Amino acid sequence: MLIHLQRWLPLLGIDTTTLEDIREAGEIIAPHIDAVMDIVYGTISETPETARVFTAPGQMARARAAQTRHWLTYILTGDFNESYAEATLAIGRIHFAHKVDLVPYMGSYSVALEAVNAIIGRAIPDDAVRRHRCERAIYKAIFLDMGLSTYVYYDTEVSLVQELSNELNASLARAGEYRDNETGKHIVRMSRMCGVLAEAIGRDADWVRMLVMASPLHDVGKIGIPDKILLKPGRLTDEEMAVMRDHPAIGGAIIPDHSAQVILMAKRISLTHHERWDGDGYPAGLAGEAIPLEGRIAAICDVFDALVSHRPYKKPWPVEDAAGYLRDNAGKHFDPALVEAFLEHLPRMIRIQTEYADEA
Ligand SMILES: [Fe+2]
Ligand SMILES: [Fe+2]
Repeated sequence: MLIHLQRWLPLLGIDTTTLEDIREAGEIIAPHIDAVMDIVYGTISETPETARVFTAPGQMARARAAQTRHWLTYILTGDFNESYAEATLAIGRIHFAHKVDLVPYMGSYSVALEAVNAIIGRAIPDDAVRRHRCERAIYKAIFLDMGLSTYVYYDTEVSLVQELSNELNASLARAGEYRDNETGKHIVRMSRMCGVLAEAIGRDADWVRMLVMASPLHDVGKIGIPDKILLKPGRLTDEEMAVMRDHPAIGGAIIPDHSAQVILMAKRISLTHHERWDGDGYPAGLAGEAIPLEGRIAAICDVFDALVSHRPYKKPWPVEDAAGYLRDNAGKHFDPALVEAFLEHLPRMIRIQTEYADEA
């Protein structure tokens, strides 16, 4: 994760003058840092939620030493540089790993603020202007540190949830693939080609990432197709084909109803990856741009990968033949502009084929 310090500093009004004031206040506070830490860690050991975190021998002392170092090196010097960002990142992650309750943790900043305030008050009893300047500056430094550590804490938590949902998504896609003739790598190749094609037509990075995540679910509806049809080596009869053609709708039903953009996209892809540009596809017979872009992209990458792959009923086609097929079907099966972009980036597509080739 990136902390983007350069965004935080102006937000808190920390300019060069403030940094000078922070240093001035820091010089007053630094000699008393032990007294500040006495108060902070005294409160921590008296608060049950935080006290239970520091049960291992020496753990509290180590945390206190690390925090003292952090204050002396950064908070009291105003050196909010890259190594400060890294140190704050590490501190936030340690707190997360130890399941430190954030509320008392934030409370310890308030205690520190009060202690620091008292030190400044004692050091500058007669010059109210200078005193306020120092207090104001050190408040900002402490606010910055508190804000960043909360941010890191939550970001770590959100990343874990994100990872989990990616994993669940991938396992649902694999479940769909598991019963099919295709190997697991089809969805990897297909989704990566979708990503390249989306990037090629200028979609932004978030959309591309979402498509790479959502497209592996295109055939999840095949879970609902009986084996005797799904795994039949020969051509399907008309009735069997009709059953097979239910898989987009089954996929649409399996993918949960959730407002997350990636889930909505996965649903749209499942429902529309067999639509055709000329309107002869299924299930809805949509045509042209009425087919969502992600469905049109998925259709090209899905078919291309199927053509160049080995399947029980066919040998892999040479790349030139598969490219020719796309070209011949531009404006019929496929969106012609997307076919053009795909063929322009054919070397990247071939690289994906090699990198994620099926084991022989
Ligand atoms: Fe499909
Ligand atoms: Fe597929």
